[in-house]
Amino acid sequence: MEKKPTVLSGIRPTGNLHLGNYFGAVRNFVKMQETNECYFFIADYHMLTTHPNPKDLQGNVRQVIIEYLAAGLDPDKATLYLQSDIPETAELYLFLNMNAYLGELERVTTFKEKARKQPDNINAGLLTYPTLMASDIIIQRAHLVPVGKDQEQNLEMTRTFARRFNRMYKVDYFPIPKAFNFDDELVKIPGLDGSGKMGKSEGEGNAIFLCEDPKSIRKKVMRAVTDSGPEQMNQEKPEAIQNLFSLMEVVSSSETIQFFDDHYNNCTIRYGDLKKQLAEDIVSFTRPFYERIQELSANDEYISRVINQGAEKARANAMKTVRDVREIIGFRKIY
Ligand code: TRP
Repeated sequence: MEKKPTVLSGIRPTGNLHLGNYFGAVRNFVKMQETNECYFFIADYHMLTTHPNPKDLQGNVRQVIIEYLAAGLDPDKATLYLQSDIPETAELYLFLNMNAYLGELERVTTFKEKARKQPDNINAGLLTYPTLMASDIIIQRAHLVPVGKDQEQNLEMTRTFARRFNRMYKVDYFPIPKAFNFDDELVKIPGLDGSGKMGKSEGEGNAIFLCEDPKSIRKKVMRAVTDSGPEQMNQEKPEAIQNLFSLMEVVSSSETIQFFDDHYNNCTIRYGDLKKQLAEDIVSFTRPFYERIQELSANDEYISRVINQGAEKARANAMKTVRDVREIIGFRKIY
Protein backbone atom coordinates (compact mmCIF):
# COMPACT_ATOMS: atom_id res chain seq x y z
CA MET A 1 0.00 0.00 0.00
CA GLU A 2 1.21 3.48 -0.81
CA LYS A 3 2.09 5.66 2.13
CA LYS A 4 -0.40 8.38 2.96
CA PRO A 5 0.76 11.76 1.65
CA THR A 6 2.08 14.09 4.33
CA VAL A 7 0.03 17.25 4.69
CA LEU A 8 1.56 20.32 6.28
CA SER A 9 0.36 23.83 6.92
CA GLY A 10 1.46 26.81 8.94
CA ILE A 11 -0.81 29.10 10.86
CA ARG A 12 -0.05 32.75 11.44
CA PRO A 13 -0.90 33.54 15.06
CA THR A 14 -2.80 36.72 14.36
CA GLY A 15 -5.96 37.13 16.35
CA ASN A 16 -8.88 34.89 17.13
CA LEU A 17 -10.61 32.40 14.87
CA HIS A 18 -13.87 33.63 13.40
CA LEU A 19 -16.60 31.81 11.50
CA GLY A 20 -14.92 32.70 8.21
CA ASN A 21 -11.68 30.99 9.28
CA TYR A 22 -13.59 28.03 10.59
CA PHE A 23 -15.57 27.33 7.42
CA GLY A 24 -12.47 28.17 5.41
CA ALA A 25 -9.22 26.63 6.56
CA VAL A 26 -9.87 25.06 9.93
CA ARG A 27 -12.70 22.74 9.03
CA ASN A 28 -10.58 21.34 6.20
CA PHE A 29 -7.67 20.70 8.57
CA VAL A 30 -10.02 18.84 10.89
CA LYS A 31 -11.18 16.68 7.99
CA MET A 32 -7.68 16.03 6.66
CA GLN A 33 -6.36 14.76 9.97
CA GLU A 34 -8.66 11.75 9.56
CA THR A 35 -7.15 10.65 6.27
CA ASN A 36 -3.59 11.97 6.15
CA GLU A 37 -0.38 12.24 8.06
CA CYS A 38 -0.80 15.89 9.11
CA TYR A 39 1.58 18.49 10.48
CA PHE A 40 0.09 21.80 11.58
CA PHE A 41 2.24 24.41 13.24
CA ILE A 42 2.06 27.94 14.55
CA ALA A 43 4.40 30.11 12.49
CA ASP A 44 5.93 32.01 15.38
CA TYR A 45 9.37 32.50 13.79
CA HIS A 46 7.63 34.24 10.93
CA MET A 47 5.93 36.56 13.41
CA LEU A 48 9.28 38.15 14.23
CA THR A 49 9.18 40.08 10.95
CA THR A 50 6.85 42.50 12.72
CA HIS A 51 8.90 42.63 15.97
CA PRO A 52 6.27 41.57 18.54
CA ASN A 53 7.10 41.87 22.23
CA PRO A 54 7.71 38.58 24.07
CA LYS A 55 4.51 38.70 26.08
CA ASP A 56 2.24 39.29 23.10
CA LEU A 57 4.03 36.63 21.10
CA GLN A 58 3.55 34.03 23.82
CA GLY A 59 -0.07 34.96 24.49
CA ASN A 60 -1.02 34.86 20.81
CA VAL A 61 0.60 31.50 20.23
CA ARG A 62 -1.15 29.95 23.22
CA GLN A 63 -4.51 31.36 22.22
CA VAL A 64 -4.17 30.02 18.68
CA ILE A 65 -3.32 26.53 19.94
CA ILE A 66 -6.34 26.61 22.24
CA GLU A 67 -8.70 27.72 19.50
CA TYR A 68 -7.49 25.14 16.97
CA LEU A 69 -7.89 22.41 19.56
CA ALA A 70 -11.35 23.69 20.39
CA ALA A 71 -12.18 23.70 16.68
CA GLY A 72 -11.40 20.01 16.46
CA LEU A 73 -7.72 19.44 15.77
CA ASP A 74 -6.80 16.29 17.62
CA PRO A 75 -3.21 16.05 18.88
CA ASP A 76 -3.42 12.26 18.67
CA LYS A 77 -4.28 12.42 14.98
CA ALA A 78 -2.36 15.45 13.72
CA THR A 79 1.05 16.69 14.82
CA LEU A 80 0.44 20.11 16.28
CA TYR A 81 3.52 22.16 17.14
CA LEU A 82 5.28 25.48 17.29
CA GLN A 83 7.67 26.39 14.51
CA SER A 84 10.19 27.69 17.03
CA ASP A 85 10.28 24.31 18.78
CA ILE A 86 12.06 23.00 15.69
CA PRO A 87 15.30 25.02 15.64
CA GLU A 88 16.55 22.74 12.84
CA THR A 89 14.21 24.79 10.65
CA ALA A 90 16.62 27.70 11.05
CA GLU A 91 19.56 25.61 9.92
CA LEU A 92 17.77 24.42 6.81
CA TYR A 93 16.68 28.02 6.20
CA LEU A 94 20.34 29.03 6.20
CA PHE A 95 21.17 26.36 3.65
CA LEU A 96 18.25 27.35 1.43
CA ASN A 97 19.17 31.01 1.60
CA MET A 98 22.53 30.24 0.00
CA ASN A 99 20.66 29.14 -3.10
CA ALA A 100 17.96 31.80 -3.07
CA TYR A 101 18.49 34.86 -5.23
CA LEU A 102 17.72 38.46 -4.46
CA GLY A 103 15.87 38.95 -7.73
CA GLU A 104 13.43 36.11 -7.23
CA LEU A 105 12.82 37.03 -3.59
CA GLU A 106 12.16 40.66 -4.46
CA ARG A 107 9.57 39.64 -7.03
CA VAL A 108 7.34 37.87 -4.53
CA THR A 109 4.01 39.67 -4.24
CA THR A 110 3.61 39.14 -0.51
CA PHE A 111 7.07 40.69 0.00
CA LYS A 112 6.18 43.70 -2.11
CA GLU A 113 2.92 44.12 -0.23
CA LYS A 114 4.53 43.86 3.17
CA ALA A 115 7.31 46.21 2.15
CA ARG A 116 4.65 48.71 1.16
CA LYS A 117 2.79 48.25 4.44
CA GLN A 118 5.83 48.56 6.67
CA PRO A 119 8.29 50.80 4.75
CA ASP A 120 10.30 51.47 7.91
CA ASN A 121 10.85 47.78 8.59
CA ILE A 122 11.78 46.03 5.38
CA ASN A 123 14.03 43.53 7.11
CA ALA A 124 15.89 40.55 5.66
CA GLY A 125 13.42 38.21 7.35
CA LEU A 126 10.65 39.73 5.29
CA LEU A 127 12.65 39.25 2.10
CA THR A 128 13.52 35.65 2.96
CA TYR A 129 10.04 34.79 4.22
CA PRO A 130 9.68 32.29 1.32
CA THR A 131 12.89 30.44 2.23
CA LEU A 132 11.75 30.08 5.84
CA MET A 133 8.39 28.85 4.62
CA ALA A 134 10.13 26.42 2.27
CA SER A 135 12.20 25.20 5.17
CA ASP A 136 9.04 24.61 7.26
CA ILE A 137 7.59 22.52 4.49
CA ILE A 138 10.49 20.47 3.22
CA ILE A 139 11.96 19.82 6.66
CA GLN A 140 8.98 17.54 7.22
CA ARG A 141 9.24 16.26 3.63
CA ALA A 142 5.63 17.26 3.07
CA HIS A 143 3.70 16.42 -0.10
CA LEU A 144 0.61 18.55 0.21
CA VAL A 145 0.27 22.06 1.56
CA PRO A 146 -3.24 23.39 2.10
CA VAL A 147 -3.03 27.12 1.56
CA GLY A 148 -5.20 29.95 0.37
CA LYS A 149 -4.64 31.65 -2.97
CA ASP A 150 -2.53 34.36 -1.36
CA GLN A 151 0.13 31.78 -0.47
CA GLU A 152 0.41 30.06 -3.82
CA GLN A 153 3.38 32.07 -4.98
CA ASN A 154 5.23 31.31 -1.75
CA LEU A 155 4.53 27.65 -2.33
CA GLU A 156 5.80 27.90 -5.89
CA MET A 157 9.04 29.26 -4.37
CA THR A 158 9.20 26.23 -2.09
CA ARG A 159 8.92 23.99 -5.13
CA THR A 160 11.71 25.93 -6.82
CA PHE A 161 14.00 25.69 -3.79
CA ALA A 162 13.35 21.99 -3.30
CA ARG A 163 13.99 21.25 -6.99
CA ARG A 164 17.08 23.42 -6.97
CA PHE A 165 18.51 21.55 -4.00
CA ASN A 166 17.82 18.17 -5.57
CA ARG A 167 19.39 19.28 -8.85
CA MET A 168 22.41 20.96 -7.29
CA TYR A 169 23.38 17.90 -5.27
CA LYS A 170 22.13 15.41 -7.84
CA VAL A 171 19.81 13.77 -5.36
CA ASP A 172 16.15 12.96 -5.31
CA TYR A 173 15.85 13.86 -1.67
CA PHE A 174 13.05 16.39 -1.23
CA PRO A 175 9.55 15.61 -2.45
CA ILE A 176 8.24 18.55 -4.50
CA PRO A 177 5.23 19.70 -2.48
CA LYS A 178 1.93 20.55 -4.12
CA ALA A 179 -0.44 23.30 -3.11
CA PHE A 180 -3.74 21.98 -1.95
CA ASN A 181 -5.94 24.91 -2.70
CA PHE A 182 -9.25 24.63 -0.95
CA ASP A 183 -10.46 28.10 -1.81
CA ASP A 184 -12.78 26.67 -4.44
CA GLU A 185 -14.61 24.38 -2.08
CA LEU A 186 -14.82 27.05 0.56
CA VAL A 187 -18.11 28.14 1.91
CA LYS A 188 -17.74 31.89 1.65
CA ILE A 189 -18.75 33.46 4.91
CA PRO A 190 -19.84 37.07 4.60
CA GLY A 191 -19.38 39.65 7.32
CA LEU A 192 -22.08 41.57 9.16
CA ASP A 193 -21.33 45.00 7.78
CA GLY A 194 -23.32 44.65 4.60
CA SER A 195 -20.61 43.85 2.09
CA GLY A 196 -17.67 41.55 1.54
CA LYS A 197 -16.45 38.59 3.48
CA MET A 198 -15.99 38.08 7.18
CA GLY A 199 -12.61 39.25 8.39
CA LYS A 200 -11.02 40.73 11.43
CA SER A 201 -9.45 43.61 9.56
CA GLU A 202 -12.85 44.78 8.34
CA GLY A 203 -13.57 46.43 11.66
CA GLU A 204 -15.31 45.65 14.91
CA GLY A 205 -18.67 44.05 14.54
CA ASN A 206 -18.03 42.45 11.17
CA ALA A 207 -16.79 39.08 12.39
CA ILE A 208 -18.16 36.53 14.86
CA PHE A 209 -15.44 34.73 16.78
CA LEU A 210 -15.51 31.17 18.08
CA CYS A 211 -14.43 32.47 21.48
CA GLU A 212 -17.17 35.08 21.59
CA ASP A 213 -19.76 35.05 24.36
CA PRO A 214 -23.47 34.81 23.47
CA LYS A 215 -24.27 38.31 24.64
CA SER A 216 -21.73 39.86 22.35
CA ILE A 217 -22.80 37.67 19.42
CA ARG A 218 -26.42 38.77 19.83
CA LYS A 219 -25.38 42.39 19.97
CA LYS A 220 -23.32 42.13 16.79
CA VAL A 221 -26.00 40.30 14.84
CA MET A 222 -28.71 42.74 15.90
CA ARG A 223 -26.51 45.55 14.57
CA ALA A 224 -25.87 43.88 11.21
CA VAL A 225 -26.54 46.05 8.19
CA THR A 226 -29.97 45.64 6.52
CA ASP A 227 -32.17 47.87 4.36
CA SER A 228 -35.71 49.21 4.44
CA GLY A 229 -37.18 45.93 3.24
CA PRO A 230 -38.32 44.34 -0.04
CA GLU A 231 -40.71 46.38 -2.19
CA GLN A 232 -41.67 43.83 -4.80
CA MET A 233 -42.61 40.21 -4.53
CA ASN A 234 -39.73 37.81 -5.24
CA GLN A 235 -37.22 40.55 -5.81
CA GLU A 236 -33.54 39.76 -5.74
CA LYS A 237 -31.93 40.22 -2.34
CA PRO A 238 -29.41 43.05 -2.05
CA GLU A 239 -25.97 42.03 -0.78
CA ALA A 240 -26.49 42.95 2.88
CA ILE A 241 -29.64 40.81 3.08
CA GLN A 242 -28.20 37.96 1.05
CA ASN A 243 -25.29 37.95 3.51
CA LEU A 244 -27.61 37.28 6.44
CA PHE A 245 -29.21 34.43 4.51
CA SER A 246 -25.75 33.06 3.64
CA LEU A 247 -24.89 33.01 7.33
CA MET A 248 -28.13 31.16 7.99
CA GLU A 249 -27.10 28.60 5.39
CA VAL A 250 -24.29 27.44 7.66
CA VAL A 251 -25.94 27.66 11.08
CA SER A 252 -29.72 27.41 10.69
CA SER A 253 -32.15 24.64 9.79
CA SER A 254 -33.61 24.46 6.29
CA GLU A 255 -37.08 25.16 7.72
CA THR A 256 -35.84 28.37 9.27
CA ILE A 257 -34.25 29.49 6.04
CA GLN A 258 -37.37 28.60 4.05
CA PHE A 259 -39.54 30.50 6.52
CA PHE A 260 -37.61 33.75 6.20
CA ASP A 261 -37.12 33.31 2.49
CA ASP A 262 -40.89 32.99 2.00
CA HIS A 263 -41.49 36.08 4.09
CA TYR A 264 -38.89 37.98 2.14
CA ASN A 265 -40.46 36.95 -1.13
CA ASN A 266 -43.95 38.05 -0.12
CA CYS A 267 -42.63 41.23 1.49
CA THR A 268 -43.76 40.42 5.01
CA ILE A 269 -40.30 39.84 6.43
CA ARG A 270 -39.32 41.46 9.69
CA TYR A 271 -35.57 41.83 9.83
CA GLY A 272 -35.65 42.03 13.62
CA ASP A 273 -37.09 38.52 13.78
CA LEU A 274 -34.64 37.23 11.23
CA LYS A 275 -31.69 38.65 13.15
CA LYS A 276 -32.97 37.29 16.45
CA GLN A 277 -33.25 33.83 14.96
CA LEU A 278 -29.87 34.10 13.24
CA ALA A 279 -28.25 35.23 16.48
CA GLU A 280 -29.70 32.27 18.37
CA ASP A 281 -28.58 29.84 15.69
CA ILE A 282 -25.06 31.28 15.68
CA VAL A 283 -24.97 31.10 19.47
CA SER A 284 -26.00 27.42 19.36
CA PHE A 285 -23.43 26.70 16.71
CA THR A 286 -20.53 28.40 18.48
CA ARG A 287 -21.48 27.33 22.01
CA PRO A 288 -19.49 24.04 22.00
CA PHE A 289 -16.43 25.90 20.67
CA TYR A 290 -16.89 28.68 23.18
CA GLU A 291 -17.16 26.25 26.09
CA ARG A 292 -14.20 24.23 24.97
CA ILE A 293 -12.06 27.34 24.63
CA GLN A 294 -12.97 28.25 28.22
CA GLU A 295 -12.11 24.76 29.42
CA LEU A 296 -8.81 24.58 27.58
CA SER A 297 -7.79 28.06 28.70
CA ALA A 298 -8.02 26.85 32.29
CA ASN A 299 -5.95 23.76 31.61
CA ASP A 300 -2.33 24.87 31.23
CA GLU A 301 -1.06 21.44 31.94
CA TYR A 302 -2.94 19.90 29.05
CA ILE A 303 -1.86 22.64 26.64
CA SER A 304 1.78 22.13 27.62
CA ARG A 305 1.41 18.42 27.12
CA VAL A 306 -0.03 18.90 23.64
CA ILE A 307 2.76 21.30 22.67
CA ASN A 308 5.47 18.98 24.01
CA GLN A 309 4.02 15.97 22.29
CA GLY A 310 3.86 17.79 18.95
CA ALA A 311 7.35 19.21 19.32
CA GLU A 312 8.80 15.81 20.02
CA LYS A 313 7.36 14.16 16.95
CA ALA A 314 7.89 17.08 14.57
CA ARG A 315 11.42 17.58 15.78
CA ALA A 316 12.44 13.97 15.41
CA ASN A 317 11.30 14.05 11.81
CA ALA A 318 13.00 17.42 11.17
CA MET A 319 16.27 16.27 12.72
CA LYS A 320 16.39 13.35 10.38
CA THR A 321 16.02 15.70 7.41
CA VAL A 322 18.73 18.08 8.56
CA ARG A 323 21.06 15.20 9.35
CA ASP A 324 20.59 13.90 5.80
CA VAL A 325 20.95 17.37 4.31
CA ARG A 326 24.20 18.06 6.18
CA GLU A 327 25.56 14.85 4.81
CA ILE A 328 24.41 15.62 1.25
CA ILE A 329 26.02 19.08 1.44
CA GLY A 330 29.27 17.58 2.72
CA PHE A 331 29.33 18.60 6.35
CA ARG A 332 30.59 16.48 9.19
CA LYS A 333 28.10 14.37 11.09
CA ILE A 334 27.38 16.00 14.43
CA TYR A 335 24.07 14.43 15.39
N1 TRP B 1 2.84 32.05 5.07
C1 TRP B 1 1.67 31.44 5.64
C2 TRP B 1 0.60 32.51 5.86
O1 TRP B 1 0.92 33.66 5.84
C3 TRP B 1 2.01 30.78 6.97
C4 TRP B 1 3.04 29.74 6.79
C5 TRP B 1 4.31 29.77 7.27
C6 TRP B 1 2.87 28.53 6.09
N2 TRP B 1 4.96 28.63 6.92
C7 TRP B 1 4.11 27.84 6.20
C8 TRP B 1 1.79 27.95 5.40
C9 TRP B 1 4.28 26.60 5.62
C10 TRP B 1 1.98 26.71 4.82
C11 TRP B 1 3.22 26.03 4.93
O2 TRP B 1 -0.54 32.17 6.04
